[in-house]
Amino acid sequence: MHWTKRIITTIASCALILFSGPWAQIAGGQTPPVKPGTRPSSSSSASMQDWWKNAVIYEIYPRSFQDSNGDGIGDLNGITDRLDYLRDLGVDAIWLTPVYPSPQVDFGYDISDYKNIDPQYGTLADFDRLVAEAGKRNIRIIMDMVMNHTSDKHEWFIQSQSSRDNPYRDWYMWHDGKGQTATDKGVPPNNWQSVFGHSAWQWDEKTRQYYYHKFYIQQPDLNWYNPKVHQAFEDILRFWLKRGVGGFRFDAITTLYEDPGMADEGVVMDKDGKPKINAYGDPQLDGSKTDNLPGLHPVMQEMRATSDEFNSNKFPGERVLIGETYLPNIEELKKMYGPVDKPEFQLPMDTQVGFINKLDVTAFRSKLIDAETHLSANIPLIVFDNHDNPRLDARYGDGVHDTEIERVISTILFASRGTSLFYYGDEIGMKTTPPTRKADVKDPIGVTGWPKEKGRDGERTPMQWNASKNAGFTTGTPWLPVPPNSATINVKAAEANPDSMLAWYKSLILLKKTNPAFEQGANLMLDTDNTKVLSWMRQAQGAPQVVVSVNFTADPQLVNLTASGAGLEPAHLKTLLKSPGGVDPVSLDRVALGPFGVYIGEVQ
Ligand code: GLC
Ligand code: CA
Repeated sequence: MHWTKRIITTIASCALILFSGPWAQIAGGQTPPVKPGTRPSSSSSASMQDWWKNAVIYEIYPRSFQDSNGDGIGDLNGITDRLDYLRDLGVDAIWLTPVYPSPQVDFGYDISDYKNIDPQYGTLADFDRLVAEAGKRNIRIIMDMVMNHTSDKHEWFIQSQSSRDNPYRDWYMWHDGKGQTATDKGVPPNNWQSVFGHSAWQWDEKTRQYYYHKFYIQQPDLNWYNPKVHQAFEDILRFWLKRGVGGFRFDAITTLYEDPGMADEGVVMDKDGKPKINAYGDPQLDGSKTDNLPGLHPVMQEMRATSDEFNSNKFPGERVLIGETYLPNIEELKKMYGPVDKPEFQLPMDTQVGFINKLDVTAFRSKLIDAETHLSANIPLIVFDNHDNPRLDARYGDGVHDTEIERVISTILFASRGTSLFYYGDEIGMKTTPPTRKADVKDPIGVTGWPKEKGRDGERTPMQWNASKNAGFTTGTPWLPVPPNSATINVKAAEANPDSMLAWYKSLILLKKTNPAFEQGANLMLDTDNTKVLSWMRQAQGAPQVVVSVNFTADPQLVNLTASGAGLEPAHLKTLLKSPGGVDPVSLDRVALGPFGVYIGEVQ
């Protein structure tokens, strides 16, 4: 796997791409009344059980969402305070990026204790309150689970590093150097690289061996050939499942295993036959010995079995396993669901669709067809954005029509069959705001990679709640600067404007949850020769068909939805949703769209 996430690439090379409660522990799963018109509530136990199949999942970067104690860092109580906002938006689950104790080198992805909460974010009691309050609103809390590595300050690594015969020595990946002697450390065992730049091997002078780290030096990789590591994580999962979490998002899961043969990885060549060089100045490797090795499948079967132990009535609904699965094609993605009798993830992320990173109708059509036809009965998890990639404006915008383009993207996200995952702030159109000086960079890869790689601060800026100085995020000094555009782009302003992005998100989510074709309908592509407009139909038995058209160009377009595709006849359309200023078409064969316009209508 290559963490080529940030470099806007065509995903052409064969190299793998990585860019880059109780949920209500409340007797009887009681839910308080919700404000009329805000969200549909699914109450039957059947829909509770598979709540995740047509769900809306919201990713929160806790550091940046809402500070409650004025230290400039977001926290769990801040999230609890904002649960009504998330309920009104229609969110079914929140994925929290790591909130465990951590030295914060990788802002939480370097975990030093898997069974506690970092004091910066709160306490276990705060966490339990968050789970309970979220549960009252039909919202589940999903934890991030980092199994590839720990912090170098985790007790396991401290032990492991203390001597070669410590019982924890083989919990991590220790190796002699090439040409190492009693006095000479030689060179690293092979050419494997860290996703965050340079060799993945770090020399340890005390015990005179190298350890492997796929990510930062402070994130040593665990040795998954050791069964004790498996048991330790099953135990950690149970700890959180008992507290009522709705599931886990498995971090960097494809990096779990490395090839024991230890051979060098191949170098990726450019079209002139020269090695491709990455943002850190190193040759790009093919990931063949360190990414997506088959050992991860039995591990995920174990983790799923552990998680399934908790699918009882006491905790309504299945616990869900989500995977961070940047993979090269749909066949590899399909494997992540596991065999029918030994399931793995319910929802491995389909990064094929959302990280195309350009508005190419043909590419979107083909990736959406893949998701519809190559995953058997499994549910795709569509995702466009997260804390590792520049936001939507930077990957899809043209600088002029960014708002309209964000409507296009969100329509694909919510109107396609499957579960939708999005990133805090997208619902108000928050923009990428990278640091302008190296001295301001907080994410270490921005320091190593400056100026080509500015790090991930730009997509982690504080949530913009209102137009006040710190956008309502904190009363203190925010850990990352609040973007100046918060004066106009903020929740408060959006709530007052019926044409806002927020209103658009709410409408799409409501359609997703209440329109029968959206709830269960198959996805069928329409007008399939069109290279400017992407159109599809959602079709469920016994329900009116719904058509969706999104214009990928800055020019007005007229489309004929009876053209190639599903063989529809001309018919009248009832508008369900359209871009502001859009027109109601007279018939299915004449749908007019403005620049980057969106139209959704029911066939009558
Ligand atoms: C995943 C996370 C990223 C983190 C890395 C190492 O890719 O999303 O933020 O830096 O894993 O844990
Ligand atoms: Ca690993």
